Amino acid sequence: MKEYSVHLERRRRLLEKSEGVVILPTSGHPVRNRDSHYPYRFDSYFYYLTGFQEPDSVLVMASGKSILFCREKDPDREIWDGYRFGPEKAKEVFLFDETHPISEFEDLLPKYLADQPAVHYPLGADEKWDGRVLSALNAVRNLVRSGISSPSEIRDIRPEIDEMRLIKDDHEIRIMRRAASIASSAHRIAMKSARPGMMEYGVEAELLGEFRRNGAQAPSYTPIVAGGGNACILHYVDNNAVLKSGDLLLIDAGCELDGYASDITRTFPVNGKFTPEQKEIYELVLKAQAAALSEVKPGASWQSPHDAAVRILAQGFVDLGLCKGSVDDVIESGDYRRFYMHRTGHWLGLDVHDAGSYKTGGNWRMLEPGMVLTVEPGCYVRPAEGVPECFWNIGIRIEDDVHVTTNGHEILSLEAPKTVSEIEEWMAS
Ligand code: GLY
Ligand code: MN
Ligand code: MN
Repeated sequence: MKEYSVHLERRRRLLEKSEGVVILPTSGHPVRNRDSHYPYRFDSYFYYLTGFQEPDSVLVMASGKSILFCREKDPDREIWDGYRFGPEKAKEVFLFDETHPISEFEDLLPKYLADQPAVHYPLGADEKWDGRVLSALNAVRNLVRSGISSPSEIRDIRPEIDEMRLIKDDHEIRIMRRAASIASSAHRIAMKSARPGMMEYGVEAELLGEFRRNGAQAPSYTPIVAGGGNACILHYVDNNAVLKSGDLLLIDAGCELDGYASDITRTFPVNGKFTPEQKEIYELVLKAQAAALSEVKPGASWQSPHDAAVRILAQGFVDLGLCKGSVDDVIESGDYRRFYMHRTGHWLGLDVHDAGSYKTGGNWRMLEPGMVLTVEPGCYVRPAEGVPECFWNIGIRIEDDVHVTTNGHEILSLEAPKTVSEIEEWMAS
């Protein structure tokens, strides 16, 4: 099997579903400051259908053909910036029907748009391409007196690709297993390296080092390395505080491997031993995660894992004196949200919050084999009146990456220690 035949197969499937012309540009390459750029990251939709990683590229699909526009070979630029495939080589390696230099995009596009009923293009996603596509469309409209019809519809093709991306194929699952395994190893190393007096960024460096040592190209999002009360800031990314004995450390970090994200959270004591209060809340979150995980199976509603986690957490909050009233009251009033204010998961794939709708026809969608989601309940106790002081500044989240299989699920991030005893033993070993 050719390396890029999975992408070819995806294009074939999309061509079957779409009438008209598909135009899908990849991402631009933004400047960070002056003449330094951010590390380049292709557009996930474009990459899903092509496997092609160079900027300044556009996929066009028309009349059953796949056409790639890309940068031409340029020996001078390649000395500075590295290898480019160029249209000829890209056609052969990435299995396109046609390839052209990107410089010819505007001149050739009207030809592909002629006599087509619709253009499938994500209008508004990137202004740089909007103008070019619309001017090509106008060029075709001007040909009406020569008997050529122009597309009467502009539609966004991404929701159709979302549906495809939601169900991962074997090729994707293999990469995601490895992405989760690398990130699990990074969490293991972080647990081993953290100690009182160390800076949060010192632990972050260990995570990033393990990602790169194993060939992951990048973190899949900015790692959260949050000691003590910083863990109660959900999107804490400063990572510049000193770690204290007696505090917990929450690490939410995953890597991107060949385009695919892992997204794992572990929380552990900086000094290797949970206090009784930390343990109490940790065990509660772990129980909520187990309840949520048991709902991850084909035919279950997207909402079931969240509802299961909320019920366990709400009961725990009542038992610990964090919330007052019955469990049903606490759930109905939403009072539990003072300590658990986010949802229990999201789709995972090329994007860390991956493509795919959560409802269809107004109802939560059913889980199906091939879907990958996170299961990540938590509890965050900020200092506040009426909240028992012994729990202040405890922030805990436990997040795993989970693949829905035909008979249940597969946890991709299993290698990262998770129970109290697993964590304490690993840190002591
Ligand atoms: N790390 C992002 C999230 O957990 O959703
Ligand atoms: Mn997540
Ligand atoms: Mn996360």
